[in-house]
Amino acid sequence: MAKDWTPSSWHALPAQQQPDWPDQGDLDRALKQIASYPPLVFAGEARSLQSSLAQVAAGNAFLLQAGDCAESFEEFSANNIREKLRVILQMSVVLTYSLGVPVVKVGRIAGQFAKPRSTDTEKVGDLELPSFRGHIVNSDAFTEAARVPSADRLVSAYHQSAATLNLLRAFTKGGFADLTRVHAWTQEFVATSPEGQRYEQIASEIDRALRFMRACGVDTESNHDLHETNVYTSHEALLLGYEEALTRQDSLTGNWYDCSAHMLWIGERTRQLDGAHVEFLRGVGNPLGCKIGPGTDADYVLQLCERLNPARIPGRLTLISRMGADKVEDALRPLLRAVREAGHPVVWACDPMHANTVTSAGGRKTRQFDRICAEIDGFVAAHKAEGTWPGGIHVELTGDNVTECVGGADNILDSQLDDRYQTVCDPRLNGRQSLDLAFTVAENLRASGLA
Ligand code: PEP
Ligand code: CO
Repeated sequence: MAKDWTPSSWHALPAQQQPDWPDQGDLDRALKQIASYPPLVFAGEARSLQSSLAQVAAGNAFLLQAGDCAESFEEFSANNIREKLRVILQMSVVLTYSLGVPVVKVGRIAGQFAKPRSTDTEKVGDLELPSFRGHIVNSDAFTEAARVPSADRLVSAYHQSAATLNLLRAFTKGGFADLTRVHAWTQEFVATSPEGQRYEQIASEIDRALRFMRACGVDTESNHDLHETNVYTSHEALLLGYEEALTRQDSLTGNWYDCSAHMLWIGERTRQLDGAHVEFLRGVGNPLGCKIGPGTDADYVLQLCERLNPARIPGRLTLISRMGADKVEDALRPLLRAVREAGHPVVWACDPMHANTVTSAGGRKTRQFDRICAEIDGFVAAHKAEGTWPGGIHVELTGDNVTECVGGADNILDSQLDDRYQTVCDPRLNGRQSLDLAFTVAENLRASGLA
């Protein structure tokens, strides 16, 4: 267990990006209520995820962490959850087949509500209002009243997370994740997208592999592994009061776990070594992530590893680089080298989204599919050069047919962004762009000889 740590020891340190709650009494009541509710996940599940991530750290598995930038209270439906899961499963089949290693699936889902912001206020025309901080805090509507933080939202976020997790568990264990079915969706993508035909070869190789298994007598009907899967949950642990309220002592080991999700990560804006977020997360037993941007130096990364994973447990810590397509190769190499030389067993994941955000001619926040791919290319190249394993990708996506990122299989144009721009925060890949990305990553890793 972490030394001199309690679930509330973070209170003594500066916490960035916390909302200005208007009424302390309301906040205390909401947090007390959440603290009395059941945990959302079980510590044993967090440990299973950590073991799987240890395989990623060792180069024997690949991490796919994906989902919304910010989950929405308004777009909360079975359809929405199912379509997101469908894309994650499809990407996972393509990656598993192409890389020949298990894919560890972690959703940005069932709790990904709170958003850090670069500025405290937003301006539209002459009106300046407090920034939207995620539906767990305030509303995205652009009115004075909508932007006031409301503690009731913390309780709503707990309930929405519970219902989402419930459906995820049902889908992943109840037949929806069946391998042959997931592959049939993938064939559909290849058949109907002109760009997708580029992937005909991988898709038909998967067919052949499935036929081969059946021919060898693998009973595809009764083998659980072909019908069920694990999809873990994760979110940015931003609102420390909420995370503390869901932190519980595991009855089996006596260790503390943040039972709001299986994996928690620290964002680029809250990763100060002497800040409250690092303090809180160092004490929980869950696998942790930390985003690292282009300004990160090797000395910082080594201190972060020491702080968050002093016992050097493989799978405990995932470093999620988000450098920008132009910078990633040069910025990442010294970090890979330093961590390798220090012997820290981290998972390296690439977030190719957050440092490649641009504003379109029409004023929409967007990302170009090609730049996203280019960041992954640079990430892979850096690992190849340093002899380390490019362990995974961390992406923002939705299963819906949105028009938020430009390019990709359907070549979405700048002028189409207004058609279906639905995100409440950052622009996400739509279902087709996501699958297209999985094929591109698969091709890239094969071409670099890493798979
Ligand atoms: C995010 O993942 O949505 C995010 C805000 O990322 P970052 O902390 O890397 O900017
Ligand atoms: Co985002």
